[in-house]
Amino acid sequence: MSSNNSAQSSAASAEGPGLTLYGGEGTGRRVTVRDLARAKRAGERWPMLTAYDATIASVFDDAGIPVLLVGDSAGNNHLGYENTVPVTLDQLVMLTGAVVRGTKRALIVADLPFGSYQESPEQALRNGVRLLKEAGAGAVKLEGGQRSARQVEALVAAGVPVMAHLGLTPQSVHAFGGYRVQGRDAESAEQLIADAKTMQAAGAFALVLECVPEELAARVTDLLEIPTVGIGAGVQCDAQVLVWTDMAGMNTGHTAKFVKQYADLRAALGDAAKAFAGEVVGGVYPGPEHTFH
Ligand code: KIV
Repeated sequence: MSSNNSAQSSAASAEGPGLTLYGGEGTGRRVTVRDLARAKRAGERWPMLTAYDATIASVFDDAGIPVLLVGDSAGNNHLGYENTVPVTLDQLVMLTGAVVRGTKRALIVADLPFGSYQESPEQALRNGVRLLKEAGAGAVKLEGGQRSARQVEALVAAGVPVMAHLGLTPQSVHAFGGYRVQGRDAESAEQLIADAKTMQAAGAFALVLECVPEELAARVTDLLEIPTVGIGAGVQCDAQVLVWTDMAGMNTGHTAKFVKQYADLRAALGDAAKAFAGEVVGGVYPGPEHTFH
């Protein structure tokens, strides 16, 4: 990413006010994939967060986050599974519908979960269409490079915008043997670059790069015309995404190196629950102001 702030603002104003993805005046409509393409041309960085329900999604929409991902990270951040593998398409249709209903402006990207697109382009198309038609998503995301290219082509040809995902692709956790940084040696770095070009050629509108060295992510970002969205991929990507429960300090246990915690919601909610419980036990709540006569 070569731009600085002044380049960003002059590029944004050249295309009219209110068009910046974050912090602009707003356009009164949902963000589209065309807006993301414009942001790449303008050198404008943007944030993306995951969301899995209407309430949290509405908070992020009100905060101006332009793109929300209903990720299959719902598996280990919302649904209580160990990883993303068990998440089903029906679950993501349900969660995506809630996120769409809770938002007015954000582009909603929904994950195609493990097993919902790998079989064939036809399977990918059938299931991608469900996420747009039944849940109201504006785009879908799927994992893989060359191996997913025909799926991306089929979806894009049918009018389903696709975000691709390379690097550490969590649906392959069993094949990777754990969560490890990808593309560290020359051969796997070249393979990732080839896969990135393949995804762009297949019609993807953006590319998530998860857990790859900053230098490699910067090369891919420079090579591609579509925006890169980094998670554990350094600051050179066009956009950054975090899982919202990581970002807000809702999770316990191991935290990945790339996670920055911007709040301690787990402690705040726990304190609120304890305050409520104490007042119930002590006969303080409900007080007269909460009581009907
Ligand atoms: O499922 C998810 O939340 C994701 C992001 C981590 C990119 O794929």
